[in-house]
Amino acid sequence: MSNSTEMEIKNNKVGWESPSNIAIIKYWGKYGNQLPQNASVSFTLKNAATRTFVEWRNGNTTGKPECTFSFEGKENPAFKARLDKFLNSICHDFFPFLQHVTLHIDSSNSFPHSSGIASSASAMSALALCLCDIENQINGVGDFNESFYKKSSIVSRLGSGSACRSVYPYMAVWGKHQSYPDASDEYAIPAESSMHPVFKSFHDDILIVSADQKSVSSSAGHGLMENNPFAKARYLQAENRMRVLSEALNSGDIGGFGKIAEEEALTLHALMMCSDPSYILMEENSLAIIKKVKQFRQDSGIPVYFTLDAGPNVHVLYPDEFEKKVSAFIYEELKPFCYQGKILRDEVGKGPQKIC
Ligand code: PMV
Repeated sequence: MSNSTEMEIKNNKVGWESPSNIAIIKYWGKYGNQLPQNASVSFTLKNAATRTFVEWRNGNTTGKPECTFSFEGKENPAFKARLDKFLNSICHDFFPFLQHVTLHIDSSNSFPHSSGIASSASAMSALALCLCDIENQINGVGDFNESFYKKSSIVSRLGSGSACRSVYPYMAVWGKHQSYPDASDEYAIPAESSMHPVFKSFHDDILIVSADQKSVSSSAGHGLMENNPFAKARYLQAENRMRVLSEALNSGDIGGFGKIAEEEALTLHALMMCSDPSYILMEENSLAIIKKVKQFRQDSGIPVYFTLDAGPNVHVLYPDEFEKKVSAFIYEELKPFCYQGKILRDEVGKGPQKIC
């Protein structure tokens, strides 16, 4: 292969690694085209990430996006179908170039797939960043500026709502709210500047309670909020909690932060339990872990808190200063409640990285 051919191939490939995020105020309920009923705030994680490479070639004459897809080296028809639908939905308004190229998308996760960890936030944000990067290259733009991340966030959101928060370091806010005047329902904004340094050192150890597929998907769960009799009160509650939490995050009030983090986790699951039809995603071991975390906090005075996603796994949040004591507690007392003893140790991270 000549050097010039090598150059061409190199230029036709981009790659991004993008992390997952953990919401402190939860997005639960949507309207319109994947827009949130309430504002949410999340910590960007470091270790749970998706690495996506996208290669593109000219010569697609079908007039619609064409792609091949492999996940961890293997074809994945279920995700490929979702991907085709997604690419078709964003082609006209966001990336007209998709009509003229064929993509090969190759993705892998840093976390084991049998861990029950939702990967849509990291997967969709990694893909959105790649597409925005390709667009930049086609247009001869080399900058990863504010508008690059804004567009990546919008496109991520269309793939999976919570994914829009993954494109920023440390902390992101999505959804209009008076405490964050620049925030929007269409995209997330970086919120590092409103975050006290103590939260940047936060750990999030993810205790895997079950690796099974969820019985009710997040998108079905969002849908059930439409007829949930408590929906209106919930959106108001989220708005108030955002205000209180923004003050705690700014001032470094760990106790105030932890109180809201736990209340939000339990509210999310309470909303599931009072949907019609009702459902429960927590397991006995999720509850056992939650009770132990509260007891440990009370006995030791160490500020350690839990939160939950839309599933049974428990996220244990605490500042770095207490890492030794908390990890001893987790391994001695919580690990027995985990599926195959699985714990994914994570922490607040610096956001996506360009890897190719
Ligand atoms: O982004 P989705 O549609 O998978 O919904 C995610 C919802 C929660 O994870 C439960 C909360 C959140 O804000 O991330």
